Amino acid sequence: MAAPIVDAHGVNLKLQSGTSALHILKDVDLTLGASEVAAIVGPSGSGKTSLLMLLGGLERPTSGTITIAGETISGLDEDRLAIFRRNNLGILFQNFHLIPSLTALENVTLTLEIADPGARWQTLRDKAAAALADVGLGTRLDHLPNALSGGEQQRVGLARAMVAEPRLLLADEPTGNLDQETGARVIELMFSLARKRGTAILLITHDPALAAEADRTLRMNEGRLTESALA
Ligand SMILES: Nc1ncnc2c1ncn2[C@@H]1O[C@H](COP(=O)(O)OP(=O)(O)OP(=O)(O)O)[C@@H](O)[C@H]1O
Ligand SMILES: [Mg+2]
Repeated sequence: MAAPIVDAHGVNLKLQSGTSALHILKDVDLTLGASEVAAIVGPSGSGKTSLLMLLGGLERPTSGTITIAGETISGLDEDRLAIFRRNNLGILFQNFHLIPSLTALENVTLTLEIADPGARWQTLRDKAAAALADVGLGTRLDHLPNALSGGEQQRVGLARAMVAEPRLLLADEPTGNLDQETGARVIELMFSLARKRGTAILLITHDPALAAEADRTLRMNEGRLTESALA
């Protein structure tokens, strides 16, 4: 069997909040193969985003090991982690994290340029424009984030997360602000990335239609992750 894209073992996250210690993630194990799409469902505050942050190397576990595309990221220093992220990961955050002073096109082009600094700007721009057209934003390329609706900003975030064809796509509620038709289109785009490029996808969703299309559904409950039979 090919090496998994995600291999997480015994992952715990404990945070100190004032005087109380919070046990946010409890002995989480997760394996995800190439082209595999897994949806995480579960109540608000159960630890879903926290797990995504750990898998994206944006937060470190209190204990446990996380291996992504063969690299044990818990062992990397900040510089190596940043390089690893830009070469292997696409991340769509819950609040998009677009750069406010850059247009939609510049936000997406910048990601490509960081991953491939030697490439021609025009080539990267064309690729970024195509990714934005794919998410239905071909006529919004020159808009700054604050001149875009919430759902449009979310789609810029998704174009940015997918444009470099990452090994692993982590998406926090990718259809959360979208109408049904637009949501269905971005779901199809994500799944085609998995099929064509072997990208493994882990997405958090409250949308039953999206969860139903994933290969697996995982349930987060009070920091514990279990395989759900409802997939
Ligand atoms: N920096 C922090 N310090 C203390 N507690 C935190 C911190 N970040 C998150 N938490 C707590 O960790 C728990 C899990 O948060 P998380 O954001 O992972 O939930 P979630 O499952 O993504 O919820 P939602 O569906 O509302 O997005 C919450 O109770 C939250 O208050
Ligand atoms: Mg969350």
